[in-house]
Amino acid sequence: MLKPIKIKEDLYYIGVNDRTRHLFENLWPLPKGVSYNSYLLVDEKTVLFDTVDICYSDIYFQKLEIALDGRSLDYLVINHMEPDHSGSLGLLRSKYPNVQIVGNKRTADMVKGYFNITEGVRIIEDGEELTLGKHKLVFYLTPMVHWPETMMTYDVTDKTIFSGDAFGTFGTLDGGITDTQLHPERYYDEMIRYYSNIVGKFGSPVQKALEKLSTLEIATICSTHGPVWTQEDQIKKVVSIYNKLSRYEGDEGVVIAYGSMYGNTEQMAEAIAYELAEQGIKEIILHNVSKRSHSYIIRDIFKYKGLIVGSPTYNNKLYPEVEYLLSKVEGREMKNRYFGYFGSFTWAGAAVKRLAQFAEDTKFEVIGAPVEMKQAMFNETYEACVALGKAMAERLKQDR
Ligand SMILES: Cc1cc2nc3c(=O)[nH]c(=O)nc-3n(C[C@H](O)[C@H](O)[C@H](O)COP(=O)(O)O)c2cc1C
Ligand SMILES: [Fe+2]
Ligand SMILES: [Fe+2]
Repeated sequence: MLKPIKIKEDLYYIGVNDRTRHLFENLWPLPKGVSYNSYLLVDEKTVLFDTVDICYSDIYFQKLEIALDGRSLDYLVINHMEPDHSGSLGLLRSKYPNVQIVGNKRTADMVKGYFNITEGVRIIEDGEELTLGKHKLVFYLTPMVHWPETMMTYDVTDKTIFSGDAFGTFGTLDGGITDTQLHPERYYDEMIRYYSNIVGKFGSPVQKALEKLSTLEIATICSTHGPVWTQEDQIKKVVSIYNKLSRYEGDEGVVIAYGSMYGNTEQMAEAIAYELAEQGIKEIILHNVSKRSHSYIIRDIFKYKGLIVGSPTYNNKLYPEVEYLLSKVEGREMKNRYFGYFGSFTWAGAAVKRLAQFAEDTKFEVIGAPVEMKQAMFNETYEACVALGKAMAERLKQDR
């Protein structure tokens, strides 16, 4: 039987690790798994923050019972209703029939819609307070980070923010729960992947949420995935990751994402990459869109300012995996990218035209002249790729 972990005075971690699921939301790979975090605050009143995926409810309820140590459960604060956190809500209510469910109006609609629960639901407004004894909670509505009901709960007494998915990461908690117990660097890239995959479309609501939090003194961040952030420098770091990503600000570097069946288009990508390196760009990431999960490609597109996309023509269209990637970029309303493109064909080219349309739709700044290749690469195409690489490098270097 697993025990709860005390992470602060009055506060217990009772989350679980998922090392079984292959794809989060049946879309995003989980090579390092994921944790579903839930916390119990024990004061004159007892308060649970979110629950866990129903697959892990057995372990979860055992931990909860131990943490409660014979006391009743007074409140469940729901910061987010996505089933990786609300999955155990129905069971929780049947085990603890007197628990008051606390959420905003939109939460209450979903509690009814998913679980047919309407009794014992307390609807709070933005900024409303709830006193528990020694601790006082304040609720901050932060809609669309990344669902309409998302909110955060601040424990004024301990300066702890229960942030929901915000500041969450993929990756299980392998023993250590707080950032002092582990190497936090291990989680940064997985935080970026989590953000770009799950929250990426909602830059502007995230900015609004960060603004709301900016007036608060925060000593601990308890997110629903990944480590608990307690160190001042780590809190600064994760907030700055969120700030940067939600502004769609990238670092110097170029993602070259290409499709290729027989290697001709791939050679164009290589030629561009050689020239970027020649020009002193160090971060150059080539992604074969058919091989690499788009989860990682999207992560890197969020990380770097330069994006170059290449595709063969396929049945008079873009290569399907490239089209699919573009739809993901557009779906995230990606902004502020320097964009270059290239394509190939054998009898009637369509890829480059479609990429031009994509450039127009996204309003990306187009860099260099697009390169279109008929059949194989000879000197002329090689030189055109070099020119594209050079133009991209020069544009990036202007920002140094
Ligand atoms: C299934 C399939 C469909 C294709 N459709 C077209 C097409 O509609 N128009 C065209 O000009 N070339 C078409 N091609 C040819 C490729 O676009 C061309 O060979 C390209 O250079 C392949 O690049 P790669 O070597 O990087 O795969 C097609 C090739 C395949 C295999
Ligand atoms: Fe979520
Ligand atoms: Fe989540």
